[in-house]
Amino acid sequence: MRGIILSGGSATRLRPCTKVTSKQLMPVYNRPMIYYPLNTLIKAGIKEILIIVAPERAGDYLNLLGSGREFGVKFTYEIQDKPRGLAEAFIIGENFIDDDNVAMILGDNIFEDDFSEDIKNFKSGGKVFAKKVPDPERFGVVRFDCNMKAVKIEEKPKEWISDYAITGLYIYDSRVVEAAKQVQPSERGELEITELHNWYLKKGELEVAMVNGEWIDAGTFDSLLRAQNFAKEKMQEKLVI
Ligand code: G1P
Repeated sequence: MRGIILSGGSATRLRPCTKVTSKQLMPVYNRPMIYYPLNTLIKAGIKEILIIVAPERAGDYLNLLGSGREFGVKFTYEIQDKPRGLAEAFIIGENFIDDDNVAMILGDNIFEDDFSEDIKNFKSGGKVFAKKVPDPERFGVVRFDCNMKAVKIEEKPKEWISDYAITGLYIYDSRVVEAAKQVQPSERGELEITELHNWYLKKGELEVAMVNGEWIDAGTFDSLLRAQNFAKEKMQEKLVI
């Protein structure tokens, strides 16, 4: 299993702070934000990690994270020129992924759960993780039938379809590269990751598991504040980096 951390984007919701730094390098209590998703991958035993960054900030990431030796892993870096969407990460990462399975995590997602078993036991298809939230319109949303089988996934639905958000950790087999190449840009001009979930869902090869612990997408000032407090109170003993 290879790992990808997508840490691009322009983070306009965190202006003016993000005029001079990358969102995912901003502090979440006593560590840069990206340490938390990195911790999730490293704890699960992933040794080869591709970090995808925006061009303006590439030097900062190199200074902060280096080769990965300090963490006992190997980092590779790639640039995402423009925020063209999450699914583009798999096109950028094509050579890195090669024939392996891949776990991608978003650089602003903080998870309390340990995903080691999910990552170690993954064989093929796709596996994503859902969490009940009060503000589903901010996220990719999944609707379940009465047997809790996923039937529909939509990106930021305008009309309510369910309270379950798809969180920013995705495990796919290497076919995800071909699937990503077929995705057309959405209305907001992005290659939506939701299209990839639906590609696997249609084949009957998507597993949707639940996130049990806390999950925070730290992309707004309010969620960032929540992340700070959560990191201080609950995350410290769970961090290996
Ligand atoms: C992205 C995805 C969305 C997902 C969310 C998780 O949204 O497009 O499906 O639920 O991450 O953090 P974005 O943060 O790009 O608005």
